[in-house]
Amino acid sequence: MKSYLFSPGPVMVEEPVRAALNHYDICHRSPEFEALYADIQQKVLRLFEADETYCSVVISGSGTAANEACLSSVFEQEEEALLLSNGEFGERLYEILGKYQIPTTNLTFGWGVLPDLDRVEKALKDNPKITYICMVFHETSTGMINPVGEVGQLAKKYGKRFFVDCVSAAAGEHVDVLKNNIDLCTSVGGKCLGAYPGAAYVCGRESLISALTPELGRNVYLNLAKHYRIAKKCNQTPNTPNVTLFWALDAALDWTLDRETLDGRIQRYRECSGILRNGMKEMGLRFLLPEEQMSSTVTSVFLPDGKNVADFVAGLAQDGYTVYPGKGKYLEMNMFQVATMGAIYPDDCRKFLEVLQKHI
Ligand SMILES: Cc1ncc(COP(=O)(O)O)c(C=O)c1O
Repeated sequence: MKSYLFSPGPVMVEEPVRAALNHYDICHRSPEFEALYADIQQKVLRLFEADETYCSVVISGSGTAANEACLSSVFEQEEEALLLSNGEFGERLYEILGKYQIPTTNLTFGWGVLPDLDRVEKALKDNPKITYICMVFHETSTGMINPVGEVGQLAKKYGKRFFVDCVSAAAGEHVDVLKNNIDLCTSVGGKCLGAYPGAAYVCGRESLISALTPELGRNVYLNLAKHYRIAKKCNQTPNTPNVTLFWALDAALDWTLDRETLDGRIQRYRECSGILRNGMKEMGLRFLLPEEQMSSTVTSVFLPDGKNVADFVAGLAQDGYTVYPGKGKYLEMNMFQVATMGAIYPDDCRKFLEVLQKHI
């Protein structure tokens, strides 16, 4: 049964994006693919508000693949990371850094707690081996927007590089790599961009990425230097890419950047979230975060006492709406998450509220 996806990815797509899946078959070693990939690389730069000093690559995989491509490819043996973590996806970055045996100062702030910048600065002063600060832009597990601009300033002040997981932020927030001093960041089609899961991308300073060597990379498939070098040489990928998803990614980038515009997209998401948040407040529901800390797209909200979140989510699904139960300790606290990513419009949100009212 068709379900309205009010979940933070995968998302509902616009018709031209779905139609792009039906493109005639092409070979990934053909000029047609090279032209498509060259276009996508430029559009990804626009998505992150980057200039010509940045470059991008597409990686066939989920958002984690893009994160792993970055974190497994950029550290020299003696170099260390400083991680800011305040939710599930910060913890995921820690898991990746650990797997690749990158010594990491893991600053944890508790889920849903804004990072304390004094602690960040102290950690930078204490450990000169740190070369990268790593963090999540939009911590999807809580819906919090992290202070990327402020941390970017610290990165600049202390001469560190700055990696940001923008998986759930790109096309939902202004990532603005230049203003925020971001050196390297990631996202994936099946979130705010409104494409499909499975086509992820990396955007970073070309001076940084071009200096990487395949030998520095700690794995084969997700080797950022390899991805960059072949893209630069001939707009191809090192391995067989998911060509079909490239067409859809391209269509979603066109829709976002040209038809709706990045500003328009972000405004629509904010409008939709505003409608949901106002409606939920009128129903007496309590939010996890103060509204000024919330993203444009994800709302984390508690059910009234006595309600069971698993039953609630199942009930909404029966009525054709997908929302997510809270993660970690929030599940026990009967929290659920509603997202307005992808092809969701104000009227969809008003209809959702009518259905929600029946279930609380
Ligand atoms: C902020 C963030 N980072 C990483 C991921 C992992 O992405 P994927 O599930 O596409 O690997 C997600 C997924 O929701 C996310 O929200």
